[in-house]
Amino acid sequence: MATSAFSRLPGFRDFPPEDLAFRNHIFDAWRRVALRYGFLEYDGPPLESLDLYVEKSGEEIVGQLYNFVDKGDRPVALRPEMTPSLARILGERNRAMSKPIRWFTVPQLFRYERQQRGRLREHYQWNVDIVGEDGVGADAEVLAVAIDALRELGLGAEDFRARVSDRRLLSALLVALGVAEDRLMQAFAVIDKIERQGGEKTRERLISETGVDADAAARIVELLSESSLEGLAARFGDRPEVREELARLEEYVGILRAMGLGDFVEVDLTIVRGLAYYTGIVFELFDRKGELRAICGGGRYDRLLELVGGDPLPAVGFGMGDVVLGELLRERGLVPPYARTVEYFVVVVGDGERHAALSLAHALREQGRSVAYSFKGQSVRKQFKAAEQEGAAQVVVVGPDEWARGVVMVRDMSTGAEREVPVGDLAGS
Ligand code: HAM
Repeated sequence: MATSAFSRLPGFRDFPPEDLAFRNHIFDAWRRVALRYGFLEYDGPPLESLDLYVEKSGEEIVGQLYNFVDKGDRPVALRPEMTPSLARILGERNRAMSKPIRWFTVPQLFRYERQQRGRLREHYQWNVDIVGEDGVGADAEVLAVAIDALRELGLGAEDFRARVSDRRLLSALLVALGVAEDRLMQAFAVIDKIERQGGEKTRERLISETGVDADAAARIVELLSESSLEGLAARFGDRPEVREELARLEEYVGILRAMGLGDFVEVDLTIVRGLAYYTGIVFELFDRKGELRAICGGGRYDRLLELVGGDPLPAVGFGMGDVVLGELLRERGLVPPYARTVEYFVVVVGDGERHAALSLAHALREQGRSVAYSFKGQSVRKQFKAAEQEGAAQVVVVGPDEWARGVVMVRDMSTGAEREVPVGDLAGS
């Protein structure tokens, strides 16, 4: 059928004006908050070398790439995430820049995912990153930015929470429980899926994929439900390597509490993040009811710049998508009402005044006013109807007698009040 031949690809969206207004509402909040924290906006190309993602981002994302060979025989991919591009851009030009570098961007990203609630094949993702700072204050700062953006959009601690962990702490705990150092990445991959697969399957996979025995696997799964730093300190505080990692996470949580954001933050050792390059504190933001997928995810990735061939610089940041966030805002009734508006609608009484009306409309636009009018001759009644549909605040009627006297009739559409205004006053001449 002709219609289906040109239907939208699955997992892609159209944005008619009403939907675009909602998207812009989200983008505007993202930008406002990033600027409030002193971040600068940047962008990069939507198409990158395939190499940039292979091995750096991890298997899961590489399996979802939109990649092809271009006409110059280069293997390329549509960007599935922004972090490797950021690492590439800064790897090349950071030397001339004072540190820390605080940058943000809102790219459209592409992943060939199985389409499901909250997961599409394209999405927009606000990325906020600090590069060149290894102190835990930077980790806390980016999480504060993420939390504040959701607050800016009207969400509160009753709507969402940040689940935080630290890969270094989890590594120290796993080693203490018997996982070999060279199996830690496999253990992370298994733990990353614990919510979806449950405790039983996690235990089985830990045994088969990380080589621990049944007893250790059970202890690891049990440990993952420990959400208090005090509890962890009581159990593992005698191990210096764990104590050191715990102290960092304590400092991190302490900073967020000092910022007044303590209610949003929960320690959760099951958060490891799916991407391969994270090296330290990691976090994800979820709706409180736990009905939706992650709204946002991020963490520290101190080796990625070096991996893509740049200077070794520590880095931390997050990505927040527009899809899950949009769903949550809709659910909470936080979509601003959509209203179409123009400031003026010019009504032309007869064809004899059309040029006069056009000159007036143009003079108003020159002043920066928004103006619409009907393109062809219509009855005054129909033109008023059109003005209503456009959401015009004021209607300017250009009639033959009035124009001859150098005036127009202006109606305020909210009150219905009408007054004669000299053309010069309106057109600013
Ligand atoms: P990510 O966890 O893959 O991280 O994505 C971050 C967020 O983007 C997710 O929490 C989700 O809201 C949204 N998202 C991801 N994939 C999709 C999809 N297919 N459809 C809809 N929304 C999606 C990263 O991409 C990291 N590069 C973030 C980062 C920046 N880490 C450090 N700096």
